[in-house]
Amino acid sequence: MHPAYRHLGGCTKTSLLRGGTRPLPHRIHLATLRISQHSYRRQLHTRSASTTTATETEKDALTIATEADPDAPEGQTPVDIVHLTWPHKGWTEDVLHAVIPSHRAPRTAGDRFAWRVTRICRWAMDFATGMGADQKVDGKHPTTAVVAQKPLTEEQWMIRFIFLESIAGVPGIVAGTLRHLHSIRRFRPDHGWIKTLLEESYNERMHLLVFLEMYKPGWFMQFMVFAAQGVFFNTMFVSYLVSPQICHRFVGYLEEEAVHTYTRCLEEMDSGSLKGWEEGEGFKIPEVAVRYWRMEEGKRSMRDLILNIRADEASHRGVNHTLGNLDQTVDHNPFVEGGMEKGEMQRAVTKPGGLERDEVIRNSSR
Ligand SMILES: [Fe+2]
Ligand SMILES: [Fe+2]
Repeated sequence: MHPAYRHLGGCTKTSLLRGGTRPLPHRIHLATLRISQHSYRRQLHTRSASTTTATETEKDALTIATEADPDAPEGQTPVDIVHLTWPHKGWTEDVLHAVIPSHRAPRTAGDRFAWRVTRICRWAMDFATGMGADQKVDGKHPTTAVVAQKPLTEEQWMIRFIFLESIAGVPGIVAGTLRHLHSIRRFRPDHGWIKTLLEESYNERMHLLVFLEMYKPGWFMQFMVFAAQGVFFNTMFVSYLVSPQICHRFVGYLEEEAVHTYTRCLEEMDSGSLKGWEEGEGFKIPEVAVRYWRMEEGKRSMRDLILNIRADEASHRGVNHTLGNLDQTVDHNPFVEGGMEKGEMQRAVTKPGGLERDEVIRNSSR
């Protein structure tokens, strides 16, 4: 663990959710990538000294591995390989501050079902992360009220973020996989949905990787994540086969929860109750975050990091509510072209209920 984050998850006390001294799985994964990359470079170096010519594929892979970011310190290039998959275009200041917690009122029976399931998930999350009764917000406005009697601690926030993000990375990959399989099975185009769905999953995984740089989960939390993923992946898989529309609505509601969570965290930072994350206390956000969101010098505080993550969640919220408004078989995905760069994506951030179907059709015919 980086020394700057020791106050969040040291080994002085025992906790079921807090980590011990064992290395993190993702660290092992990154370490493996580093070793693989080192060996790969050595292999290519050896090969270039021999009479065998590297194939075009190998040259491409070498380019990716070594030229992804020429300024990257040695040992951090695997992160760049990860970045290269779907680089983040970054958010403008306007967009970062335009996000508001919001709730799209259910309109159909499917919406009501999705909302009910989301409430159950939120209850389970509050329970699993040890939230006290005095730490809960107004239950009548669960996704918009952000003030509680007692703030959460830095550690409670980290546990919540890691649970949330480990779950959030599942729906996009399930939906993307199923749409991909449907397309190749039925010999039909996908209308551009797959990329956005996979990109969303990837973005959620980056959120998780950033938090894992700052907090080491204990064995119990790892077990909970393992079990939750097993249940959630399979449930999503079957549910998406039955009703993709309700699934997108459900993800839209989950993302409302994510925007709520990060907005409340920002509020508690501003009220001065999260001192451990203040600048000037020897605290620094992970380097991977700075490079993923292209965070400018002077705008690399924990607050800036949470603002960026919250904008991502707001885009997922708007995208999934929009996809939930569309005809799943014939409509084109309005967010695909240009990915995160496209103006529609920026609009999704500031339209919490998503774009209505006729609006999408009108915009696409312009
Ligand atoms: Fe996320
Ligand atoms: Fe999200």
